[in-house]
Amino acid sequence: MSKFEKVLALPPERIPQHIAIILDGNGRWAKENHLARSQGHLAGANNVETITYACMDMGVKYLTVYAFSTENWSRSEDEVSYLMFLLKRYLIKNKQDAIRRRTRIRVIGNVADLKPDLQALIRDVEDSTADLTDFNLTFAINYGGRDELVRAVRGILEEGPEPSDITAEVLRSHLDTHDLPDPDLLIRTGGELRISNFLLWQLAYSEFYFLDKYWPDFTEDDLEQAVLDYAGRERRFGGRK
Ligand code: IPE
Ligand code: IPE
Ligand code: MG
Repeated sequence: MSKFEKVLALPPERIPQHIAIILDGNGRWAKENHLARSQGHLAGANNVETITYACMDMGVKYLTVYAFSTENWSRSEDEVSYLMFLLKRYLIKNKQDAIRRRTRIRVIGNVADLKPDLQALIRDVEDSTADLTDFNLTFAINYGGRDELVRAVRGILEEGPEPSDITAEVLRSHLDTHDLPDPDLLIRTGGELRISNFLLWQLAYSEFYFLDKYWPDFTEDDLEQAVLDYAGRERRFGGRK
């Protein structure tokens, strides 16, 4: 059987266009394997590559991964700086590959509060891939759904609107995700049943898929399982036929 045959046999509209992932469980994976937490994060970062390619092969167009939350600063200084190092390493390592695969890379979150060298790297990778449209890989870095909404509201107020000018569309267009469709499918690894401040606005009608496996153990087959599960669901968006 060829790779992802079951997914590729689905009617195209049953394949999620946009998958968002809360990649959780790196620390617990490391602990179970008697490794340092940093080793868990390294294995997790490498797995992002594997799962990105699997999404491309399945015909998914957008993948958004939650890499660092506005609350993750409360971790030890060592862990935070290692996570920042991994993000930099990822962007440096994958820039040429993204261009080759015609992938647009974006970063959502409060980028202005990141270290200047990381900000410069983000700008460089975003600019170098801005015209590519085959696939869209988005990293949420220093991202919090509440923070994003607060920044969006500030941006709107700076334009001096009348109260009646404020619509859902105006708010949506000021979010970090203004040029991304809402996720069709949200996956969270690691066993927790919560969204931990991810995409609060955008997940309004997304389908959720939680699984117990830790992120470094999440495989292409697990992704296929999640997509097949999604394909069997009926999305009603509040309506009734
Ligand atoms: C997810 O793994 C990665 C980030 C939050 C950056 P964790 O580090 O949260 O792993 P656990 O939840 O402690 O196992
Ligand atoms: C969510 O995981 C954030 C990321 C995956 C980046 P956390 O491990 O930070 O979430 P909680 O603390 O379990 O809610
Ligand atoms: Mg966690």
